[in-house]
Amino acid sequence: MSSDASRATRHRDDARRWPVGLEGLGYGGDYNPEQWPLETQLEDLALMREAGVNLLSVGIFSWATLEPREGQYELGWLDAVLDRLHAAGIRVALATATASPPPWLTRRHPEILPQLADGTVLHQGGRQAYRVSSPVYRRYALRMTRLMADHYGNHPALALWHVDNELGCHVPHEYSDDSAAAFRDWLEARYGTVAALNAAWGTTFWSQRYDSFAEVLPPRTAPTYPNPTQHLDFARFSSDELLAHYRELRDVLREVTPHIPTTTNLMVSTRNKWMDYFSWAPDLDVVANDHYLDAADPEAHVELAFSADLTRGIAGGDPWILMEHSTSAVSWQPRNRPKGPGEMLRNSLSHVARGADSVMFFQWRQSAAGAEKFHSAMLPHAGTDSDVWRGTVHLGEVLRRLAPVRGSRVRADAALVVDYPAWWATELDSHPSDAVHYTDQVMAWYRQLWRRGVTVDVVAPGADLDGYRLVVVPTLYSVTDDAAAGIARAAQAGATVLVTYFSGIVDEHDHVRLGGYPGAFRELLGIRSEELHPLLADERLTLDDGSTADLWSEHLHLAGAAAVRTFTDGPRAGGPAVTRNAAGAGAAWYVATRLDDAGASRVVDELLAESGVTPVLPVVPDGVEVVRRWAEPGPGVSPGAGAGAGSASGTASGTASGTASGSDAGTSSGVGAGTSYLFVINHGSRDATVPARGVDLLTGAPITGELTVPAHGVAVVEEP
Ligand code: GAL
Repeated sequence: MSSDASRATRHRDDARRWPVGLEGLGYGGDYNPEQWPLETQLEDLALMREAGVNLLSVGIFSWATLEPREGQYELGWLDAVLDRLHAAGIRVALATATASPPPWLTRRHPEILPQLADGTVLHQGGRQAYRVSSPVYRRYALRMTRLMADHYGNHPALALWHVDNELGCHVPHEYSDDSAAAFRDWLEARYGTVAALNAAWGTTFWSQRYDSFAEVLPPRTAPTYPNPTQHLDFARFSSDELLAHYRELRDVLREVTPHIPTTTNLMVSTRNKWMDYFSWAPDLDVVANDHYLDAADPEAHVELAFSADLTRGIAGGDPWILMEHSTSAVSWQPRNRPKGPGEMLRNSLSHVARGADSVMFFQWRQSAAGAEKFHSAMLPHAGTDSDVWRGTVHLGEVLRRLAPVRGSRVRADAALVVDYPAWWATELDSHPSDAVHYTDQVMAWYRQLWRRGVTVDVVAPGADLDGYRLVVVPTLYSVTDDAAAGIARAAQAGATVLVTYFSGIVDEHDHVRLGGYPGAFRELLGIRSEELHPLLADERLTLDDGSTADLWSEHLHLAGAAAVRTFTDGPRAGGPAVTRNAAGAGAAWYVATRLDDAGASRVVDELLAESGVTPVLPVVPDGVEVVRRWAEPGPGVSPGAGAGAGSASGTASGTASGTASGSDAGTSSGVGAGTSYLFVINHGSRDATVPARGVDLLTGAPITGELTVPAHGVAVVEEP
């Protein structure tokens, strides 16, 4: 069994890099100087220095300013901006400037405009008005990218390339004839023959048989339920096509500037499902993410934590860049509520605690015009006499003090398995219930672990699960044979595995695995479900532990497993609702309904007790977030040796998790000489006291056993 540390270092040999010349943690945001006169830009430099800004994303929406007429370039203003930033010691993530084509381009080539499933054309006037499959758009984007690379490749401020912007943000799926042609090529590459496509898509159903690839279309608006596998493949194709566009531009940048890393800003959150970022990660030199809170979500900080953990999972455990978040309100939700006291700092440190080594915002200076003028920024409309600005300056100081954290890593004994294609497939139509929303299922279990202060790695189904003691698999409706086998192997090797309802139902082609549900996990779980029985909106069932459940039930038979809970009423009264099966050295649990909070909480307590997974601290007060990052072994220590010496998994120490599980909460046994950083983030409105030992990095105060973090406050303790 490999240890946690070796798992965390598995990408160490990859080509992932870091913005060139960036010292400490990165701090800054999108910078759009073309919106401002020179005098304001000069003021920006002084204020950036005051705030401690060291990294800016520049040129994202500059195409129309850099090339105001086809082939006529006006780069002087950007040259001057980069020169000044360099002189001020600020590193630049320079964009390819291709995120939004200029009006002259869409006027001259209206055939690059994107189309919706019903044929509606999306016109110029907003942003991202291009179809990613258009050879014409791709040619222009390549030309612009090459120009940027040739012109700025040797600029001393250049630290990182930023390709496009939030690829697929507004147009994740595009249905034009260009898209149809590219989709057919993609299908031919995937299936080889049209017969194989027919088999995969199950086209004998409803007379859908294709005689050649030429007959295939994107899933345009149809009279009734479209072919589900066509939908799934179109989602896969669309994600791949956006990635192909990224790769094409990245290749130009690599050719001209092999020394400069390239990335694009992802949109990892529970609200963005259409790009399969696990499959994008190998092409990014460093993972960068944009994250925004839902102002209407009272537990938005838990969603943030999940998104940050998922981003770290996508990055394979490597440090990543928080490329955008907001200092306060956004402008694109129905009601754009500003952040509360200390919220921006808590959000920022929660990202850092979970692996971000840069904290950036949209944007540096709040715009006076345009669709985002009410979106907050580091420097608000009100100017420097404002809480937002004071928060900006304070965060800069905090990040400067946290510089030692850079490069340290998060470790976890629990894994949560999440899959983008399964997310798409779960939410296709014509299912037993349209109320099963994938990320609700994921968050229900994540939230339980978050509240307890249990650190979780969010991983893809095919990930190496070696060494995890607890593996949570919420509603993994579609799963490949290999991924299902990997999950079963984890249980055989000693992990406690939890699988929840509507998992393992279909293969990657959305074909049902026959012989009883959940086909892919029947054997592992020791159960067989003969009929799925979703509940009506107001239906609620009772379980024998007194908890209630809703949304889902099943006609479940035990085939080796024991019933841990049974339904006491409803359609399957007396039948199993939660089961446990001994599997090799571990166990596999199944939850066949949506448990209420108390019910889920009891199950999680049992899973933690069985697996030996413990929280970061023995007691975590309500509303307090605790995460630990571990310094990497120093040079000369091989990953293997580091893994043994620095393991948090207990493989070296023999303790359950190596995270502070004993009475001395400072550092865990078996850690060796490694330094760790304990992040304590108090989202609650009461002061919270936790056990800790070390030095408070933000104040310099020694912490000798107890640390009190004020309401809404944060602390980071460097542990010896
Ligand atoms: C992001 C985008 C930025 C800005 C921001 C506002 O989606 O990358 O350009 O629009 O949202 O929240």
